[in-house]
Amino acid sequence: MFTFTPSPDLSTTELWADLRSAALGITEGEPDRIANMANVAALLFAGLPRVNWAGWYRVVGGELVLGPFGGGPACVRIGWGQGVCGAAAASGMTQRVADVHAFAGHIACDAATRSELVVPVLAEGRVTAVLDLDSSEPDRFSPDDARGAEALVAALAGRV
Ligand code: SME
Repeated sequence: MFTFTPSPDLSTTELWADLRSAALGITEGEPDRIANMANVAALLFAGLPRVNWAGWYRVVGGELVLGPFGGGPACVRIGWGQGVCGAAAASGMTQRVADVHAFAGHIACDAATRSELVVPVLAEGRVTAVLDLDSSEPDRFSPDDARGAEALVAALAGRV
């Protein structure tokens, strides 16, 4: 089994660089996107501190459908433009939400979640999925987290 043990002294940027390398390593040569999403979700859930959910929603038939994740059971389908995930999918823009209670339309899958980072996956000019990271800590995700997650998602183009 693949294990990821980052040094506790890493900066956020360094941690994301290590996560990106590890994600590229575990998806190398594997064409099955679901398998790759599963491994990257497991990697992020285990490797990111203070995160209570890490996973993917895939765009299927004009809505978001739950994909592989780490954490508790979640909402299965999210309408286009609905919630933080739907906003990321509809806009094609990363959503970094410091306080989900202040986000109109937030979908509370887990009442413990207080902040959220959602990065769209772009392929062939359209959004094909989103990466969703949740935390029970308010304002958990910094701009460096957003940049790191965006770089990881970009590096995985064609694999997830
Ligand atoms: N809170 C998200 C829904 C997905 S779950 O948190 C796993 C949203 O508002 O899009």
